[in-house]
Amino acid sequence: MSETILKLQTKLERANQKIELLEELIEDQMRTIYSEQEINKKFAYFATYSPYPVVRIDGEGIITLSNMAANEYFKQEKLRGVAWNELVDMNLAKIDMTKGYLQHEYHVHGKDLLLCYKNIPELEVINIYGFDITDSKQIERELEEERARHIHSMQMATLGEMAGGMAHELNTPLGLMSLSIKQIETCYKKGKTDMFHDIIADMYGTIDRMSKLINGFKTFSRNTNENDFTFVNLKKLIEECIEICKMSLKDDGVELFYPEDIRDISIECNPTEISQVLINLVQNARDAISGSESPWIKIEMTYGDELVIKVIDSGAGVPPEIEEKLFVPFYTTKEIGKGTGLGLSIIKGIVERHNGEIGLDKNCPNTCFRFRIPVLQNIGAFL
Ligand SMILES: Nc1ncnc2c1ncn2[C@@H]1O[C@H](COP(=O)(O)OP(=O)(O)OP(=O)(O)O)[C@@H](O)[C@H]1O
Ligand SMILES: [Mg+2]
Repeated sequence: MSETILKLQTKLERANQKIELLEELIEDQMRTIYSEQEINKKFAYFATYSPYPVVRIDGEGIITLSNMAANEYFKQEKLRGVAWNELVDMNLAKIDMTKGYLQHEYHVHGKDLLLCYKNIPELEVINIYGFDITDSKQIERELEEERARHIHSMQMATLGEMAGGMAHELNTPLGLMSLSIKQIETCYKKGKTDMFHDIIADMYGTIDRMSKLINGFKTFSRNTNENDFTFVNLKKLIEECIEICKMSLKDDGVELFYPEDIRDISIECNPTEISQVLINLVQNARDAISGSESPWIKIEMTYGDELVIKVIDSGAGVPPEIEEKLFVPFYTTKEIGKGTGLGLSIIKGIVERHNGEIGLDKNCPNTCFRFRIPVLQNIGAFL
């Protein structure tokens, strides 16, 4: 009898354990259902009262819920059932939703929206919240226009300074060309045609210099705007800049050292702006050292994933009290009328827009400004 009771007790205990386990499972399930309901309730509440667009899409990218604001922003009577891909012209497959939040800007019917995507894996949906950023985008655009105006006026000032030199620079090779033609005439008359080869090679060299100079000026003086990153040949860009630098240093007796064997690689940048940076650094260096004994400027360059350019001059560095103000707009040590003090602040803006950095390299015994930019601009963009 007692044996039977013992067996029954054990069975009861096991049954109790099972019930406890089941209870726990049910509670878990209840908690999930409750939190789903909570999430849905909160979402619906937020969506109804939000003045900004709120949209929910299912795993297939089809809109299952949208609020009034979303319908108004997208100028549709109802969005339910519409494919989000088609509405905003973007590929959802490219979005890695495992990272949680993602966002991108979107322009719709004259408004700028910041669309934030929130993955809700337990519901297998993505909630999309839109924020109206039209006003801040407008301010950004105005600032951008202002920035472009600044750069342009700096370009104009530099061009004005160089105009005389430019005429002179073009006259010299033209003189060389006519000399070469005379040489060819003389050699022809004397029957020394074997000399043609060397003379013609010289002529090609002269033409090459002239075209680099003219192209450099064209690049340098072009109007610059925000979205004009293009792929350019680094060798060509730097050689054109160097021609302009050589020209602007000519009358100051400053010796220029520069890389001669630049590889034919492509970089993605705004060529006008990058030439501004290099030429302005060289001009600052020139202004700092001209009149000193044996002045020189050295341009050094390395490239791989990023392009690093150093402009080193024979000066002994920048005193610490000046160093901290170098990039502050309107800071200048030049006499009134000589410098605006905007050069370094503008080129800092340019380098930062290229996702790079600029600063003084204090490891150098001389004065050295160093900037670096990635050779590709759009890596990491998710759309
Ligand atoms: N290579 C350098 N060596 C020493 N000081 C420099 C050098 N480059 C810039 N500076 C200092 O930084 C100041 C600010 O330079 P920035 O280019 O911003 O303006 P600026 O050259 O004075 O004027 P602008 O660019 O209009 O000609 C210069 O006035 C100078 O004092
Ligand atoms: Mg300057």
